[in-house]
Amino acid sequence: MPKLRKAVFPVAGFGSRFLPVTKASPKEMMPIVDKPLIQYAVEEAAAAGITDMIFVTGRNKRAIEDHFDKAYELETELERKGKGALLDQVRSVLPEGVRCVYIRQTEPLGLGHAVLCAQPVVGNDPFAVLLADDLMDSNPPAIARMAQVFDKENCSLLGVEEVPKDQTQSYGIVTIDRMQGDMARIHSIVEKPKPADAPSNLAVIGRYVLTPRIFDLLGEVKPGAGGEIQLTDAISALLKHEKAMAVRLPGRRFDCGSKLGYLKATVEFGVRHPEFGKAFASYLKSR
Ligand code: G1P
Repeated sequence: MPKLRKAVFPVAGFGSRFLPVTKASPKEMMPIVDKPLIQYAVEEAAAAGITDMIFVTGRNKRAIEDHFDKAYELETELERKGKGALLDQVRSVLPEGVRCVYIRQTEPLGLGHAVLCAQPVVGNDPFAVLLADDLMDSNPPAIARMAQVFDKENCSLLGVEEVPKDQTQSYGIVTIDRMQGDMARIHSIVEKPKPADAPSNLAVIGRYVLTPRIFDLLGEVKPGAGGEIQLTDAISALLKHEKAMAVRLPGRRFDCGSKLGYLKATVEFGVRHPEFGKAFASYLKSR
């Protein structure tokens, strides 16, 4: 199996949980302090040696393409004014040695459908999937740990985390063999079960490494939970053909798809900010 070099970022969703801010702007462009969510995800992938960033986009998402593009006027202006530090920041938005490909998902048919849209670019290679609204705060970066496991195991991998039992309806839920260190073989997976029906409380979080066989299965699955083509259902079918493993990811996850998670991430990254973190922390204490 070739090394992991490609990552798919499904970014076509409406972001309806964040309306009205997402009415005309992509939710993936929402900032945590001064960087948009999608940039954190791209940096995480680049740190894992991934070079091909494949964005599955939709209408109203052009800001993502612009963000990772060269900004001639802005750069010229910053240069003219001698604002070197800002210029460096603008130029380093796209990590070195990385290229971007954009594919349109013309209808919002679900996460599985979005991943299937990337097939013409991914081809017969293994690939990562990163959901930018799961912001991973860890060292080593989450997907780097998964790339390391992939090198050894050569099978599909799902990032997992225990969630409170009453939240199983928000996640893909897996059952596994006994954990060996931070990994375990997956037995089954089901999308968004009600707490009473959930076979465990081990949830899939927005980090996947998948073998290209998933595309055949994505082409066959019928609409599942919420009437959408679910990646979870294709992974469930994949388990009949190939082994897949759960990897408990290092560090902390912020669910930036929810307002509370987003605010928590803003506070955590805010107090750590090199310029004003200390001042922000003392403000939080004083109020
Ligand atoms: C998606 C997946 C789900 C996974 C979750 C992780 O759901 O369908 O299996 O657990 O991401 O964030 P969504 O959050 O898009 O509803």
